[in-house]
Amino acid sequence: MSTATEPATSTVEYVEVTTPRVHNLHHVEVFTPKPEESLDFFTRVLGLHETHREGQSVYLRACGEWGRYSTVLTEAAQPGLGHMAWQVAEPDQVEGWARRLKDAGVEHKLEAGGSSAFAQGDTLSFTGPFGHRTELFYDFERYEPADPSKLLSQPIKFPMPGIGARRLDHLNITARNVDEARDWYSDVLGFKLREAARTPEGDLGVWMSVSSQVHDLAIMRDGMGERGRLHHIAYCLDTPETLLRAADMFVEEGTPIDAGPGKHGLTQAFFIYVFEPGGNRVELFAGGYPIHGPDWKPVIWDGANIEKAVVWYGGQLPDTFFNVAT
Ligand SMILES: [Fe+2]
Repeated sequence: MSTATEPATSTVEYVEVTTPRVHNLHHVEVFTPKPEESLDFFTRVLGLHETHREGQSVYLRACGEWGRYSTVLTEAAQPGLGHMAWQVAEPDQVEGWARRLKDAGVEHKLEAGGSSAFAQGDTLSFTGPFGHRTELFYDFERYEPADPSKLLSQPIKFPMPGIGARRLDHLNITARNVDEARDWYSDVLGFKLREAARTPEGDLGVWMSVSSQVHDLAIMRDGMGERGRLHHIAYCLDTPETLLRAADMFVEEGTPIDAGPGKHGLTQAFFIYVFEPGGNRVELFAGGYPIHGPDWKPVIWDGANIEKAVVWYGGQLPDTFFNVAT
């Protein structure tokens, strides 16, 4: 720290800072064995809308999103995660990440000069050590609404059909060994640990982010001991009140509710979890809290605190919550 009596330094050595940075979760591809029923759920009930169709995939965006899509529904024999796609902070960082993955011994493919994926630029793709297909990219086509909102900071006019999910919020995946997954996502991809449920035998779950959200990615211990599964994808709602309205709609629709509505101590999330017709768990999420400083001290829930971490209020979570993933 300089003091008033010291002169301003004239011997600054300028160094290049080019550390690649993952910026935000951008989109998720979900496999479904019931494509028509899943599409009906994601559009009519959740309120996403279709922007593109190609092969076995339908591309959807939520009302608050500026990209051409955030959700891809792809027909497949089994439900699960097709891939998760993260936007990097600068265009040249796509190649920067290729170097980092090479150094980390992770097999990867770089599609420079544009990606074969719809609306997406240069892309680095790889399967992480815990079995999840992942893409990193920077360029993505912006959604240009035919009838834009007069409120210039939002892409389209309200109301949206159904629940009107605002935007893709986060992703929750499973791993056999959460400690190893936490360290890999931290050391290799630069995710920051925000909260954890910790036992002497290791972490049960970790909540990590690359943005100022309390979590962009959660990793939970897989109760079935399998590797690389999807626990849920989550969409953000504006307020807990809209989440209660969503609960009414799920009951009206006969959508199976796995858990909630309730509140986790972890991440301060108001939640409701349902199963979409293809079998994947979907969360509607409100609340959370922002993290602004670079010096966040991870919140560790352990011992008797774990119970409150899992359920702050709203009833116990069912066994399915800990055992069913896709
Ligand atoms: Fe979640």
